[in-house]
Amino acid sequence: MTERNEQRTALVTGAGGGMGREIAHQLIARGVRVAIADINAAGLAETAAAGDGVAHLPGDLTREGAAETAVSAVAERWGRIDILVNNAGYGVIEPFLEMTLKSWERTLGINVTALAMLTVAAGNAMKAAGRGRIVNITSPASRMALPNYAAYSASKAAVDSITRAAAVALAPHGVLVNSLAPGMMDTEMQRSTEATMARMEGRDDFETFLAERTRRIPLGRRAEIAEVAAAVVWLALDAPDYLVAERLNMSGGLDKD
Ligand SMILES: NC(=O)c1ccc[n+]([C@@H]2O[C@H](COP(=O)([O-])OP(=O)(O)OC[C@H]3O[C@@H](n4cnc5c(N)ncnc54)[C@H](O)[C@@H]3O)[C@@H](O)[C@H]2O)c1
Repeated sequence: MTERNEQRTALVTGAGGGMGREIAHQLIARGVRVAIADINAAGLAETAAAGDGVAHLPGDLTREGAAETAVSAVAERWGRIDILVNNAGYGVIEPFLEMTLKSWERTLGINVTALAMLTVAAGNAMKAAGRGRIVNITSPASRMALPNYAAYSASKAAVDSITRAAAVALAPHGVLVNSLAPGMMDTEMQRSTEATMARMEGRDDFETFLAERTRRIPLGRRAEIAEVAAAVVWLALDAPDYLVAERLNMSGGLDKD
């Protein structure tokens, strides 16, 4: 544990599984005191088993007041919040002309509104302290035309927009806001999304379907969850203080600017 990281505290959303769990574990390994929030309470308990003193914050982050409650819980427990990783996310595949209000509300509720409210709550606490780092998880999808994944891609375009606005609003107060776009990682979310895509396209050769999608990645392989999480941790702890309003592409060349 380095002295620099000794006192730092972080809130990682969506840490009940997938990449959020790995981000939490890597931050814990660096000596950061971590609070984890997720709607999946059982998943949170599994994540928390990795470290002593991990604060669990189970619940739906889209509920009114949930963002403020999560941020206050961290500040009350440790007296400060240094890092927010807005990682929780949701996406559903549905054909453009069959899109429903329910799926738009669910997708935008967590990917956009909760992320914005968490950024406001943590941003205010960080502004008062004169320091902090916020990392938002976006997606290559935000810049693609995806007729069967429109709510998700629109929600991630909104994440890019919020990241830029928050970066400008908070930079004068010593708070750095950046984002990271992961490539295809084999998490539960990605696997179920691709299974639905395959079904919709009438493909019963799932492994071939996956291999075709992997071949589109210039590096020729999917991302390891740990390597993407390491880049999130770099933004949260190690990136130079002059790096702000950046979108870091960790997609093996899928995203090119
Ligand atoms: N897996 C990929 O290939 C990929 C690619 C690009 C971007 N992403 C993004 O990376 C992030 C992590 O995704 P993942 O692949 O680990 O998926 P995941 O489904 O494993 O993790 C997302 C987590 O968010 C939680 N969550 C969802 N709705 C919530 C709510 N209302 N309140 C609280 N928690 C909620 C889920 O319970 C889950 O644990 C997401 O923002 C996702 O959009 C993933």
